[in-house]
Amino acid sequence: MKRIGVMTSGGDAPGMNAAVRSVVRAARYHDFEVFGIRHGYQGMLDDEIEPLDARMVGGIINEGGTVLRTARCKAFFEPEARAKAAENLKKRGIEAFVAIGGDGTYKGAEVLHREHGVHCIGLPGTIDNDIGGTEYTIGFDTAMNTAMEAIDRLRDTAASHDRIFFVEVMGRHSGFIAMTSGIAGGAEVILVPEEPTDIPELIEHMRECRRKGKRSMIVVVAEGDDAGDAHKIAQQVAETSEFKDTRTTVIGHLQRGGRPTAFDRVLATRMGLRAVEALLENETNKMVGIVKQELVLRPLSDSWEQRAPFDPKLLEVMRVMAT
Ligand code: F6P
Repeated sequence: MKRIGVMTSGGDAPGMNAAVRSVVRAARYHDFEVFGIRHGYQGMLDDEIEPLDARMVGGIINEGGTVLRTARCKAFFEPEARAKAAENLKKRGIEAFVAIGGDGTYKGAEVLHREHGVHCIGLPGTIDNDIGGTEYTIGFDTAMNTAMEAIDRLRDTAASHDRIFFVEVMGRHSGFIAMTSGIAGGAEVILVPEEPTDIPELIEHMRECRRKGKRSMIVVVAEGDDAGDAHKIAQQVAETSEFKDTRTTVIGHLQRGGRPTAFDRVLATRMGLRAVEALLENETNKMVGIVKQELVLRPLSDSWEQRAPFDPKLLEVMRVMAT
């Protein structure tokens, strides 16, 4: 195997560039030729595939976003599209690729392997940290810190006005960003999809905070919470309690951008190198994960079959700290 591709796919995450750089440099070190596939599977299909060398990925380790661009490609669900994409790789002699993305990306890779024999190693790239088989995904640490900084700023104004703020952070299916940024930002309440939200209980907790002398409060809400988004939860609280004058902030896509933290850069760099080594070892359909500080290779299917390891003890930390 002499030629490999690298692509980023799905939602972007800070640290993806560090991962691309690492894959390219490790591949060149091991005498592979490397091709950048732009716009994920869409670019594989549209033949947006260009050679990359070590110098072309200089100066990107510190940049957010992805220089390869990314996309969510609906067409890839069609067998004809996958056949075209595989043909675009094969005509260049590309037998394998490193896919930096989430479980949707890996599902595509698995079908491509089954149908066309293209090898793939996945790197977990998403701010949500919701991929089974790894304790950390590339981008999570940066997003958590971005959310924490936003909460810090909101706390300043909340404290000045004795106000209650509902702050929505990202996490469609998971509460990792909410839980960690909420604990780090000293939130009074953190609502996550992993734990059912009970509005009367939330109101009671807020009353308890008031009784204990808290004049301002921060309620962090993961966007995927079962009781709804932050606006909806604030509205339910307002309709059924005395807490009518609150403010709601949705941090949104601010969490997806920005310079990656040192943690994400190092993680992405280590994982990129391991992905290339895995290809050298003739591995395929595996994802590089990190478990107890060690890099591990896991079947791609773990990413969707296993639940990301959410630590329920964090809920207890939040409850005790909010008293
Ligand atoms: O990257 C993951 C994620 O940020 C989710 O938490 C969020 O719901 C989703 O992506 C939104 O992505 P987009 O706006 O690109 O569809």
